[in-house]
Amino acid sequence: MRKSVLDYILRIYLPVTLLVVVATYTVTYFASRNERYHVGYAPEQPINYSHELHAGKMGIDCQYCHTAVSKGRHANVPAASTCMNCHSVARTDRPEIIKLTEYYKNDQPIPWKRVHKLPEHVYFNHSVHVNKGLDCTECHGKIQEMPVVAQVKPFMMSNCLDCHRNAPERYPHLVNLTGLKKGPENCSACHR
Ligand code: HEC
Ligand code: HEC
Ligand code: HEC
Ligand code: HEC
Ligand code: HEC
Repeated sequence: MRKSVLDYILRIYLPVTLLVVVATYTVTYFASRNERYHVGYAPEQPINYSHELHAGKMGIDCQYCHTAVSKGRHANVPAASTCMNCHSVARTDRPEIIKLTEYYKNDQPIPWKRVHKLPEHVYFNHSVHVNKGLDCTECHGKIQEMPVVAQVKPFMMSNCLDCHRNAPERYPHLVNLTGLKKGPENCSACHR
């Protein structure tokens, strides 16, 4: 009698419990993955600025505003003064432009919410990538079609490495044009 209860526990109850635990873990891991990597994150911004309108319909170059992207590690978000190049005259009667003008006049930075963010332990440099001819869309998707910026690609280690391994085959035209090579795969390149 004793033996058969133990036997029951070992042969049926234990494997079934383990299976349920593993299945639950796997499902929640994958279900929360997009959230963990901020895919779909599109915070409401303090001013209703649209890339679809400015970078898309009006065709303003990305680097007119994000001037630092080809010069160093971080891409900058433009100061209100860049907007005022146009909005000191354009649409000055609109509520959102009145808000913009207030920030500008009070010399206050606009509190834009950060969308893309790597963990602190990762090193990334924009200029290296941009100056080798990689387009913003490779990592950010079609920003010029977004009324509100959203993160569309996960910045997982595997995403970085996938491109680093295959870059020359994937962008053959850039190999001659900019001398594009494979990206590094050694840990210390990205974890310094
Ligand atoms: C007229 C100025 C302007 C132009 C042109 C512009 N941007 Fe922006 N960009 C901004 C501002 C302001 C923000 C911050 C508010 C927001 O997220 O919408 C921003 C935010 C972003 C972000 C998100 C930053 C974060 O917090 O992670 C990305 C990515 C970006 N822009 C890429 C682009 C790309 C790619 C282009 C060209 C297709 C472009 N931008 C053109 C002004 C501009
Ligand atoms: C090169 C000129 C130019 C720059 C630079 C520019 N804008 Fe604009 N913006 C325009 C024009 C022109 C319109 C009106 C377009 C239309 O309605 O067809 C507009 C429209 C807008 C609107 C919609 C206004 C409304 O309610 O009708 C907002 C909000 C706005 N811009 C914010 C910004 C912000 C914030 C920046 C800086 C990050 C910026 N703009 C930079 C030219 C510019
Ligand atoms: C190889 C991939 C890649 C390319 C190409 C790329 N970005 Fe980024 N971008 C990132 C990553 C990763 C982050 C988050 C960086 C961090 O948290 O340190 C980011 C963040 C940003 C930010 C937020 C500020 C910052 O520096 O963290 C802006 C703005 C931005 N990118 C604009 C652009 C623009 C404009 C282009 C094209 C000229 C571009 N990016 C091209 C990967 C890329
Ligand atoms: C679309 C392709 C692509 C993606 C995505 C990409 N990289 Fe790269 N990266 C490259 C290429 C190509 C090089 C090498 C450029 C060269 O030297 O020709 C490179 C070089 C680097 C370097 C060495 C140069 C330096 O700055 O020290 C680092 C570090 C790096 N990438 C980090 C990252 C990280 C972190 C990510 C992910 C968040 C990432 N990269 C995503 C293509 C990519
Ligand atoms: C091309 C850039 C790149 C290289 C090379 C790289 N990593 Fe990463 N690593 C990342 C990025 C981006 C993240 C953050 C996103 C994530 O967790 O996937 C990360 C995250 C990690 C984490 C934290 C994972 C977690 O769940 O929080 C560990 C541990 C790690 N890397 C170890 C390594 C080791 C070990 C190597 C060398 C074999 C290595 N990395 C090489 C880009 C890189």
